[in-house]
This record gives sequence, C-alpha cells and structure tokens, in this order.
Amino acid sequence: MNYEKAVEAAEFIRSKYSQEIKVAVVLGSGLGAFADEAKNAVVIPYEEIPHFSSSTVEGHAGRLVLGEVEGISVAVQQGRFHYYEGYEIAQVVFPVRAFGVLGVKNLILTNAAGSVNTDFAQGSLMLIRDHINLTGVNPLRGINDERFGARFPDMTEVYALDYQEIVISEAKKMAQEKAARKEAESGQKQSINYFLRRGVYCGLIGPNYETPAEVRMLRQLGADALGMSTVAEAITARHVGMKVIGISCITNMAAGISDDVIHHEEVMETGAKVAETFKELLRRVIAKLD
Ligand code: HPA
Repeated sequence: MNYEKAVEAAEFIRSKYSQEIKVAVVLGSGLGAFADEAKNAVVIPYEEIPHFSSSTVEGHAGRLVLGEVEGISVAVQQGRFHYYEGYEIAQVVFPVRAFGVLGVKNLILTNAAGSVNTDFAQGSLMLIRDHINLTGVNPLRGINDERFGARFPDMTEVYALDYQEIVISEAKKMAQEKAARKEAESGQKQSINYFLRRGVYCGLIGPNYETPAEVRMLRQLGADALGMSTVAEAITARHVGMKVIGISCITNMAAGISDDVIHHEEVMETGAKVAETFKELLRRVIAKLD
C-alpha cells in the first residue's frame, strides 16, 4: 500500500520537475532559508502532493522546493513532519520513501539539537557520526515491502563515512578561508574557528525538552546531542539504500548543562544566526557528492 502511495507521490513530483534529482535535503527548525539557494526552482506546497501531510510547527514552511544548487538538481523539504505532531510514523517518513522511489541516491538530514556535550558551543554544527533511536517507534515496523528494502536492514553505517569525510573537509576549508580573509583585511593573525564537531545524535519523541536527570542519563548512554527528528528518516533512507548525511545545528545546551531554560524561539534564533555558514557548507557538500 505504502509503496503504491510513494509511487503516486513520486510520479506527481516528476510531472512538475523532470530533471533527475541527485540529492534530497530535509531542513530542520530555523534552517529553512537554505531552500532559497535553489535556482530555477519549482515550489510545491505539501498539500498538493499525493499522500503528503502538512507541517504544523512554527519554523517549518511545508513545501517541497525543486531546483539547482551548484548546478546539481536537488529536492529540498522545507519543513518536515515530526512524530510529536501526532502523525503516524509512516507519514513522518513518507517523503523519504517518495524520494527513494524517485531514484534519489543521497539524503542530507538537518536538524536543530540541544547539546549534551560541553565541548560543543551553541551555534556550532555537529556532523552526525551515528544515532541512538530512543523515540520508541520504528518506521519499518509492520509487514516489510521488499520493493523498499530488506526486512532486517543493517545499520552499521547509517551516515556514510565517505560523505562524512567530505563534510569535515569542506567545513575545515571554510574555517581556514574565513580566517585568511579576516587576516588579509585586518593584517593581524587570526585564530581559526573550527565550527564543526562530530558526534552521536539521540532521537527522542518530544515535544517537551528533556529534564536535567534525563540529560545526565543520555550523556552516559553516549549521546552528544538531542533532538526530535532525523532518526526515523535516516532509518527509512538506509532501508531504501540511500546514502545519508546528518548535520545538527546546536541551538542550545541541553537542560541542566547550563542554567538557561530552553525556548523554541531561542532554537529558531540560533538557527537563523548560523544560516550563512550552514548554507555555504551545504552548497559545498552538495557539489562534492557522487
Ligand atoms: N532537546 C531536544 N530537542 C531539541 C533541543 C533539545 O535541547 N534543542 C533543539 N531541539
């Protein structure tokens, strides 16, 4: 059933945009501005796409933007579905299944996350090395449709290692180039701000932020950053054989790590502050993918 629905959605998308889409990008809270980078864009509101749901969270626009970034055809999900909004998990991951049926080989998942790791600063980016699924749900539960993928998919390398190397190398170059530019302008030696770290993302159901006791527990379990998305989409993408990159914007320190309380507005504001760095990194990475 789901497969036929994904085919319908894919066919509809193809009828609006006939280019072969190489990369799909899912934009997290406060990170929606990247969609403006797409040239010659075709914009489709989610309501128009068969079997897509509509987005209810502030900061998520709810439209699919198809266009070119660095000359490469991309599909950008400006707004995603979260399980905490009340959707079934199949609805949350439906766009990824549609991308899979469309033949999209690469998926970049982005999100806003709270840091458990005290070495990560607010406003920095975390490349997802691996994840922990504590959402209590799994998008692959139920009868397996082999047309999507195997019953028991391997999850040894959810986030493609060769792509992780690309992200790290591009982020490093960006940091070095920025310092060199500042040095040339000021004539003074500048320290290099390496804004990208690598870590483990832990997916939780939300929608409340965690308690300090939960944060202490999650740190012991090996989490570096916490969020309410991404994991189900990554599992679905691996099921259909897509290669995945995950990037978290560290919008706040997790509860109890600092004395601050956490607001959705703060999450959005931090996302907006890193927008330029984030957009440039995505552009550069997209240009380098297979
Ligand atoms: N916890 C969970 N999800 C989040 C957070 C957080 O601190 N910040 C942004 N998304």
